[in-house]
Parts: sequence; C-alpha cells; structure tokens
Amino acid sequence: GRYRVISTKPMPGTRWIKLLTDQDCRVEICTEQKTILSVEDILALIGTKCDGVIGQLTEDWGDVLFSALKRAGGTAFSNMAVGYNNVDVDAATKNGIAVGNTPGVLTETTAELAASLSLAAARRIVEADQFMRAGLYDGWLPHLFVGNLLKGQTVGVIGAGRIGSAYARMMIEGFKMNLIYYDLYQATRLEKFVTAYGQFLKANGEQPVTWKRAATMEDVLREADVISLHPILDKTTYHLINKERLAIMKKEAVLVNCSRGPVVHEVDLVEHLRANPMFRVGLDVFEDEPYMKPGLAEMKNAVVVPHIASASKWTREGMATLAALNVLGKIKGYPVWHNPNLVEPFLDENSVPPP
Ligand code: GLV
Ligand code: GLV
Repeated sequence: GRYRVISTKPMPGTRWIKLLTDQDCRVEICTEQKTILSVEDILALIGTKCDGVIGQLTEDWGDVLFSALKRAGGTAFSNMAVGYNNVDVDAATKNGIAVGNTPGVLTETTAELAASLSLAAARRIVEADQFMRAGLYDGWLPHLFVGNLLKGQTVGVIGAGRIGSAYARMMIEGFKMNLIYYDLYQATRLEKFVTAYGQFLKANGEQPVTWKRAATMEDVLREADVISLHPILDKTTYHLINKERLAIMKKEAVLVNCSRGPVVHEVDLVEHLRANPMFRVGLDVFEDEPYMKPGLAEMKNAVVVPHIASASKWTREGMATLAALNVLGKIKGYPVWHNPNLVEPFLDENSVPPP
C-alpha cells in the first residue's frame, strides 16, 4: 500500500480493513494492551510517515498530535464516535487535517440504550436483580420494588437531534408517553410523528399523546417524569445539570444520560440521589471516565453502565466502516458528497434553524 493508515484500536468487523487495503492503503492496528493511549503513545504510532488515523474518544486529539500528523504527511483523522469533544477541530484545521465522525449508524442503538436505562431505572431492575441474587426474595409482597408507570407520563428530551428524536419516538410509541423537548432547533419531524400518533390513538378510543416544545430547559426539568439528555458536549452544555437544576425536577423523576459525562455535575448528582431516594438515574457516561465520583457506586437509585450506548455489533462495525471511509475519502481526494461525515457546523436534517 502506498498510504499508511493507523487505527489506534482494533475495531469490530473486517470490512473497514478491506475498504482501505483495496484502495492502496496499508493498515496498521495498534495492539497496545492498555485501554487508554496517551499522547506520547500516539506520537510513537504516527512516526515519520502516516497518511491518516482512526482514533478513539478516549484520546486527546489536540495540536500536539495534529501537528505531528501533519509533519508525517497526514491529512485525515476520523474519530470512531459521533461525539468529538475529544478533538480540537480548530487545531486540526490549522494543520490541514480533515476530521470525520461516525453519525447515523449509532442513532437507534444509542436510543435503545437510553430507553433501556429509562426502564431499568423506572422499574428498579438492577436493584431487584441484586436482591434476587443475594437470596433476599422470600415471597411476593405488595410493596416489593414498586417503581414508576411510564404510560401517560411525560418524557422530556434535552437535545432533540438524531438520537434524542429516536429515543423520544421509542418512548412515545412504546409507552404512550407525552413529549416535552428542548432544543435550539425545532424537531419538526418528531412533532409531526407525535401529532399523527396522537390522532391514531384517539381514533381508537385511547388517550392521545401530546407534544410541547419548551421555551426553556427548566420547563422540561419541571414538567417531565423521565428526562433523557442528548446534547453535544461543549462550553454551553458543560455541567448543564447541576444542583439548582436537579432541585426543580420532580422528586420521583428518572434522569438518563447517554451523551457525555460532563453534561452532568456528578458530585451534585450524588448528593441529590442521596437526599432523594425516589429520584432515579440511568448513566452510561461519567465525568471522569473510567472513574465514578465518590458515593455513586453505592447509590441503589442509580443504574450505571460503562459507556456502551453504541455497543451493538451492527453499529460498531458500521462506525468502523464510516471511520475508514472518512479517512479514505480525504486521502484519495474524493469529493465531499462521497464523504459526508466530515465535521462541520452540524444541521440535523430533521431540524429547521431557530427564527
Ligand atoms: C460514543 O460515545 C460516541 O460519541 O459515538
Ligand atoms: C401479580 O403477580 C399479580 O398477579 O397481580
């Protein structure tokens, strides 16, 4: 192969490798055993000749790495993730490196995990499982692990882009929940879905579902029974959920985070969970991954999983494939319409800009 492409991790499937090797690329996959590679580790991988890199969200892609990649003759980087808060896109641009991400293929898989966490938290699945395994079940009782009924309650979505909208649809269609959402953009297609589904339910003599676009995020926090966070992480969403905002949520609300850990002030959250045993959370992401803030692991009203929202086989192979195509497209100079996942100010196709 004429081009040297490195992947900082082995990735699922083989299609992504074939795509690259079929087109003049030599693929090198880092086999380093430690989970999170440091900047120094990656510098050594890049070496003196490297055309493109597929990297991971655990890595810090800033000026040091992008200028090294430039010196090695590189022009392309793709994150194997839809989120790219670990990537300094300005530094990449300054060094002439195109940055790609992997949207689309993980939308439903991620939304399904958010739905799973919503149910697990609302119905206390993990707590009940632990109780069962501990041999504590000694007979059915009216009070045993009573949780929340979702039907007829309100689901709140903060960030109604691709993933937030897919999650909302699952909860509305699956559990006949009403919707309140907050986003800078109007989720037109989602609104139309809820309206049509509401009419269908009404025609069948059932209580229709409703939707509302909230004027403020606080309206969502006050009114919703289940709240799922789907914003990107940037300066405007860092610690979006803090002590003050937790305080306005319902005492028995369920909060789900499958976006990025720092969107939630985790120390404030632990405090809130301790003070409000009926408040429940489902968390896929944490402020200082792989760590949890002190106390979180002991909270019975928290369901915690290790950043697995996109972890289905189909999706992970799709992410690897998209990441390879992003790098290949740039190296081979394909036109942008062959290579649509380059990071740029993102406008969801479901959305229209704010007035
Ligand atoms: C995973 O967290 C992703 O952003 O794809
Ligand atoms: C519960 O198991 C019931 O039959 O109501």
